[in-house]
Amino acid sequence: MKNPGQKYRLAILASGGGSNAANFMDYFYDHPKIMVSLVVSNNASAGVLEKASAYGVDSRVLAAPAWEDKHAVLALFDSYGIDAIVLAGYMRLIPGWLIHKYPNKIFNIHPALLPGFGGKGMYGIFVHRAVIQSGAKRTGITIHLVNERYDEGPILFQESIPVYPDDTPERLARRVQRLEHKYYPIVVEEEVCSRK
Ligand code: GAR
Repeated sequence: MKNPGQKYRLAILASGGGSNAANFMDYFYDHPKIMVSLVVSNNASAGVLEKASAYGVDSRVLAAPAWEDKHAVLALFDSYGIDAIVLAGYMRLIPGWLIHKYPNKIFNIHPALLPGFGGKGMYGIFVHRAVIQSGAKRTGITIHLVNERYDEGPILFQESIPVYPDDTPERLARRVQRLEHKYYPIVVEEEVCSRK
């Protein structure tokens, strides 16, 4: 952990509506040890940007070309004193140089039980459609550390729920998101607080 009085600072990377990001901003609002300092999106029209503003958290749009300037991106994270990064529905691959700068400090959540139903193109509703089409009896969430391949870093936490015979992808998505909101901030909090 950091010195007493100094909070551990998270950046959240998100591409879409940002319900998980909002849940983090809520959970860590007034938290004694951890705060959300910055929200970054690759998408200028992502709903997550409005959510950041509602919570008074700074946000930036970094579209694909901006990520080519490694020094500028790292300087942005440094300027906010970012200690760890949380991916919350972020659809782009994280570059190796960011993983090296934040070793074992970049977290992701995936809306299925990895290693099943992961990889490039497997996000959001596509995951739930694939789960239903496969006939799987259970699905769930996976929280894992990020490496240079989609959805392949070491798994920290999984929780599962049944898939019902009459489930639609949308219904499954809602139930899985409830799990995400319940567990993702807690797992990140435990990881961060248990490390020196
Ligand atoms: C979440 O369900 C997250 O698990 C998923 O995107 C959604 C974002 O929702 N991530 C992936 O599929 C990553 N492969 P949100 O914008 O409401 O937080």
